[in-house]
Amino acid sequence: MVLEAIKYSRGELDILDQLQLPHTEVYDEVKSAQDAWHAIKEMRTRGAPAIAIVAALGLAVELELIAGKNELSNIAEEVELFIKEKLEYLVTSRPTAVNLADAARKLQKIVQDAAKAQNASGTSVKDAYVKAAEQMLVDDVSDNKAIGEHGADWILKNAAGGKDQVSILTHCNTGSLATAGYGTALGVIRSVHARGSLKRAFCSETRPYNQGSRLTAFELVHDKIPATLVTDSMAAALLRLKGPTENIAAIVVGADRVAANGDTANKIGTYSLAILAKHHGVKFLVAAPRTTIDLETKSGADIVIEERAGKEMTMIKGPCVKGASLDLKQIETVSIAANGIDVWNPAFDVTPAELIDGVVTEKGVVEKGSDGVFHFEDIFAASGSEVKPTTVGGL
Ligand code: MRU
Repeated sequence: MVLEAIKYSRGELDILDQLQLPHTEVYDEVKSAQDAWHAIKEMRTRGAPAIAIVAALGLAVELELIAGKNELSNIAEEVELFIKEKLEYLVTSRPTAVNLADAARKLQKIVQDAAKAQNASGTSVKDAYVKAAEQMLVDDVSDNKAIGEHGADWILKNAAGGKDQVSILTHCNTGSLATAGYGTALGVIRSVHARGSLKRAFCSETRPYNQGSRLTAFELVHDKIPATLVTDSMAAALLRLKGPTENIAAIVVGADRVAANGDTANKIGTYSLAILAKHHGVKFLVAAPRTTIDLETKSGADIVIEERAGKEMTMIKGPCVKGASLDLKQIETVSIAANGIDVWNPAFDVTPAELIDGVVTEKGVVEKGSDGVFHFEDIFAASGSEVKPTTVGGL
């Protein structure tokens, strides 16, 4: 069964509550932009593409519900303004991932154009918005599958060292739970596995929020992909091993924002992994759709890094262990740090472009050009129908 974190049909949106994973699968109803904002802020839904899609669809559901009650204005400009204000509000939920701001900008443009059209009405503006938001859900899955294939091609060509099978390390959660489906970095692992070329996936725990041990491990077990969990602090020791299984060919991570120069904001701990990869001669790839690449942000220095509550580090929550089983009715929060200690809890870090070997997009893998710099313009110039190159720009 395919893991579905976002269940949508027109007028209805349910999201898998990721705070309750991996032990309990509960869906929350999202009926409005406000519901979506809270789901994102509280991290019941998370991951750059999923954040954008849940926000866009949450507002789509609200518009449908209002229209269903005959409460939608029939004045195009009024609906346009309503949508604009809701999008501006949604963008305030989390600052680092650019996908939401990118989606909001595109949706706003569609709504503006719809409001200017001849015979525009409140309903036609609403319909244009809903259709475009729904298309984002569809496009994200197909983009992720293309990312998976391009990433698999690249790794097997550039990192396998002549072996039939490779082991890959990933960080945080970038799979079906973080996207509309399939995933970005985890999508690459899925594609390598589907070809019979994956020896083993390694996922890092991803402290402090444990997206690796709770969510990526959950997806890997769900899909029966051979996988091993390591703590973040074990990565260096793992990269040193050159055995038949513990021999990492590549580290593949997702992204929350890739700046125009290739500097990449992603889950805290990504930067350390990139440094380790460089030291050990292991390829380091960022997998992300073009909606994560932000040409307006010149470099990593311009990326706002979200800081989260200290209690995410000092406390941990989960079901009680009773003998060999879990008591899912008894969820406890326990303290794991000294009372009174100051806490710094940045949710993301920035990996400099110099440590990144390639950015895997739905249009192909972008490598640095002969000038040592990433050039993303080509993948934005390409239209959907063009042949998708596996490598864009590389040497
Ligand atoms: O704080 P999170 O869980 O939303 O952070 C998620 C990540 O950092 C992911 O790696 C990134 O959003 C890419 S998801 C395809």
